[in-house]
Amino acid sequence: MKIALKTLVLPAGEAAVAAAARVLGEGGLVAFPTETVYGLGADATNAGAVARLYEAKGRPAFNPLIAHVGDLDAARRIGRFDAAALLLAEAFWPGPLTLVLPKSADCAVADLATAGLDTVAIRIPEHRIARDILRAFGRPVVAPSANLSGHVSPTLAAHVLGDLDGRIDLIVDGGAVAVGVESTIVGIFDAPVLLRPGGLPRADIERVLGHTLVQPPADADGDSGQPLAPGMLASHYAPRTKVRLNADRIEPGEALLAFGLGAISGIDEAAAVMNLSERGDLDEAAANLFGYLRALDTRAARAIAVMPIPEDGLGEAINDRLRRAAVGRE
Ligand code: TXA
Ligand code: MG
Repeated sequence: MKIALKTLVLPAGEAAVAAAARVLGEGGLVAFPTETVYGLGADATNAGAVARLYEAKGRPAFNPLIAHVGDLDAARRIGRFDAAALLLAEAFWPGPLTLVLPKSADCAVADLATAGLDTVAIRIPEHRIARDILRAFGRPVVAPSANLSGHVSPTLAAHVLGDLDGRIDLIVDGGAVAVGVESTIVGIFDAPVLLRPGGLPRADIERVLGHTLVQPPADADGDSGQPLAPGMLASHYAPRTKVRLNADRIEPGEALLAFGLGAISGIDEAAAVMNLSERGDLDEAAANLFGYLRALDTRAARAIAVMPIPEDGLGEAINDRLRRAAVGRE
């Protein structure tokens, strides 16, 4: 973090809900209780706020985030529900279930929040304060667990303060949470898949569906190699166009993904040029990353040449995603 923030802690109540909605609207970060664990919320439609959220968690990685909404109508504006998804939504929302669905055509959730995927994870939490904040704010809120990367999920406001004091704007203290483990995540693909076991037992879900949930293959996420690791099947966004990293010149017909204002030779013959951040700001670059990759991918370029990006702050996560985009196309 560049600037230490003053982290305000407010007891749950009307004033805290109003403050939370205001801070979210300004692109700030608010930790609040859900029935599973405390979440660290940001405006899901504001890529800059989402970039700050990844940074606040430390050792940032652009794992796709869950968009929290207040009701089924709001959920249907961002995700496409088939019959199975509706069945589960009606049976278990609000509650500790997250559904991964194809994005709707006009899904307002920022590309950075879904890590550039065509799917979006959605949950309607049951906790009274979470619902009040979502209603007062009126837009989807992405909220990973409100802990530093690598730490366990917080079940008390004090846990959040211990990890994130000075890194976020506001903590709404609603006491101890009820469930204590994260939501169960079900991917609604050809067949519903259990992506993460969690607060809603698998058997309850299978009873409603009338059949068993598909178990993802153990190596679904080549990175972790761990069965049922969070983020399983969150297959990483990769453009169809080949990606060439650390480019110090552009070959004719290549598109350029630039960073900063450094000169680069061959730019006159580039098929297209987009600059992640002219002023070399890594938060801004993160906010633009997936959208720009998508845009350059439509330009029928020979390759997308990417200028070097420093490893500090969000740079580490940006470079991680760019490396993943580059392999598999080579
Ligand atoms: O209970 C919970 O779910 C808490 C509370 C705050 O709601 N949130 C939470 O978020 O656990 P997080 O970010 O710690 O976990 C989100 C998980 C990650 O494992 C991520 O990879 C997966 O959801 N996920 C999100 N979007 C996905 C997508 N489009 N496809 C597959 N997995 C996705
Ligand atoms: Mg987590």
